[in-house]
Amino acid sequence: MVEGNINKPADPKNLTEGDKKHIPAIYVPKTIVAGEPFDVIVQVGLIPHVMEEKHHIEWIELYLNDTKIGKVELSLRKNKKAEATFTIKADKSLAGKESKLHALEHCNVHGTWEEFMTIKIS
Ligand SMILES: [Fe+2]
Repeated sequence: MVEGNINKPADPKNLTEGDKKHIPAIYVPKTIVAGEPFDVIVQVGLIPHVMEEKHHIEWIELYLNDTKIGKVELSLRKNKKAEATFTIKADKSLAGKESKLHALEHCNVHGTWEEFMTIKIS
């Protein structure tokens, strides 16, 4: 699983601007069908994080039910926005159940942050 320290907002019900710039925002399609590929977009964050030489997002990672889907290393040259798209094909055994998405990102100044989302696969 995930290693190292993960930052948590001091008050999850009252996010600071810093929290909002680092907690990943996860976007999924309305309908997800087992066996059919779908895209998950992970954006950092709810307030877009900067991608500057001295301060930027280094990587974004995504898990589905603790299985690693992928890790995207961002490059200042190529990635103007701190976001990544992952394509998932959920196993047919997940049909009709709730599954858990877990996104992580790492900021070179502010460390690692995460977010979870429950999705329903049909
Ligand atoms: Fe940061």
